[in-house]
Amino acid sequence: MRLWGGRFAGPSDPRADEIGRSIDVDRVLALDDLEGSAAHVRGLFSARLLTAEERDALLGGLASLRDDVVAGRIDWDPSLEDVHLNLEAALSERVGAVGAKLHTGRSRNDQVATDLRLFARRTAADLDARLLGLERALVGLASRHAGAVLPGTTHLQPAQPVLLAHHVLAYVEMLERDRGRFADAVARLNVSPLGSGAVAGAGFRFDRAAVAHDLAFDGPTANSIDATSDRDFVVELLAAAALCGAHLSRLGEEIAWWSNPAFGFVRVPEGFATGSSMMPNKRNPDPAELVRGKAARLTGLLTGVLGLLKGLPLAYQRDLQESVEPLLDGLATLRLSLDAMTGMVEGLEVSEERMRAAASSGFSTATAVSDLLVERGVAFREAHRIVGAVVRGLEDDGVGALTEAGDTVWREALTTSADTCARGLAADPGIGQALREGATVEASLARADVVGGTAPGRVVAALDEARARLG
Ligand code: ARG
Repeated sequence: MRLWGGRFAGPSDPRADEIGRSIDVDRVLALDDLEGSAAHVRGLFSARLLTAEERDALLGGLASLRDDVVAGRIDWDPSLEDVHLNLEAALSERVGAVGAKLHTGRSRNDQVATDLRLFARRTAADLDARLLGLERALVGLASRHAGAVLPGTTHLQPAQPVLLAHHVLAYVEMLERDRGRFADAVARLNVSPLGSGAVAGAGFRFDRAAVAHDLAFDGPTANSIDATSDRDFVVELLAAAALCGAHLSRLGEEIAWWSNPAFGFVRVPEGFATGSSMMPNKRNPDPAELVRGKAARLTGLLTGVLGLLKGLPLAYQRDLQESVEPLLDGLATLRLSLDAMTGMVEGLEVSEERMRAAASSGFSTATAVSDLLVERGVAFREAHRIVGAVVRGLEDDGVGALTEAGDTVWREALTTSADTCARGLAADPGIGQALREGATVEASLARADVVGGTAPGRVVAALDEARARLG
C-alpha cells in the first residue's frame, strides 16, 4: 500500500518494496514514534490546525496504540514499509478520518530524526545505569580481594607486582570515561527536529520550541536541512559504544587467559562457564570471549555509519535509513556485553595464592631493588645495571627470586661497579639484608606510594573514593 498513491498510476515493484522495507528493524522505535506524534498533535492544536476534539481523538488513539505496543498486540504490516507508516495507518483505523490530519506539517524525515533522538536518549540512560552496575561489581571484586597481589605485566611478561584492586580500578576509570562520552553525546543530541518538515521547515507557523519542551528536548534544532540529514549523534553514540566495547574486550581477554589452569588466577562462575560438546573436561569462559568478539561488531557498526555519511549530499537521502539498524544493534550489543560482564565479575572466583605466587616470580621486584640502591646514592642507570647483572647470575644458578640473593652475590655486584657510591655500599655489612628486604612483594608495592600508584594506602583511598562515588 502506498500513502503517496495519488502521484502514481500503478503499484510498486515488489523488489523495490523489499529493499525499502524497514519495519522489522525500526519497530523498536514504536514508543518513541508515538511519543513524538503526541507532541506533534499538541503542537498542531496550539497552531490552530486541529480542534480540541480532533486533538483529543488523536491523543486517545495514540495512547491506545501505546498500550498495544507495550502489550505486543500490534500486527506489523510489512506492506506499510516502516514503523511510521504502520503506526499512522493503525491510528487512522482507530480514530477514523481525523487520522489523516496527523502528518500535517511533518515529514518522515523530521519524524525519524526525532524518534532516533528520543530512542538514543532513553537507551543511553539505560546504558548509564548498567555501566554503573558494572563499576559497582568491579569495586565489589576489588573489595573482596583487597589484599590480593597480581603480577603486573607489560608485553605480557612479568613486570612489577600490583594489587588486584588497583588493576580492577583501572577498568573503573575506563568505564567512567565511557559514561562521560555517552553523557556528552546525549547533551548534544537532545534537540528537537520536529517542525523541520522534509527539508525546508514546516509550512505552518507552529511553536517548535514548545514542542521541543514538550518532549524534554533542550530546544528546537536550528536548521531544517541539518536537522533532517544529521546523524552525527549516531556516530558519537556508536563511537562511545565501540570504545566501551574495546574496554570490555580487554577485560574479557584477561578473564580468558587468567582462567587457563596454567595461570589459574580466576574461574568464571559456573553459570557463565560452558562445556564442550566433545571434550568432557572443558570449562570454557565463553561469555568473556563473546564480549571480546562483540567489540569487533561494534567497531564495524561505527565504521559502517561513517562510510554511510561520507559524501552524502544534503539533505535527507534514503541511505540514512541504513543508520537506524547500526544504532539499535550497537546499543543493544553493548547492553548484552555489559550485563554478561557484570555477571562474570560479580561471581568471579579468585585464587589469591596463585596470583601471589605468580606475582613474586619473574624477578618482579627488580625495579624496587634498584630504586632502593638509588635511595642509597647509586645513579639510576648503574643501579639498573647492577640489579640486572644479579638477576642474570641468579637465573644462571637456577635461583628464582631476588629475595634469595646472598650477601656475596650483592657484595660482588657492588664492588665491581664503576659507581663509587655502589662500591662504598659493598662495605656495608647490612646491605645484603636490606636489599633482600627491599625485594619482597610487600616492599615493592609499598614503594609505589604516589598519586595513582599501587601502594596499599593509595589503593585503599582510591577504593573508598570509588565507593563513595558509586553510592
Ligand atoms: N524509514 C525511513 C528512515 O528511517 C524514513 C523514510 C523517509 N523516507 C523518505 N522516502 N523520505 O529514514
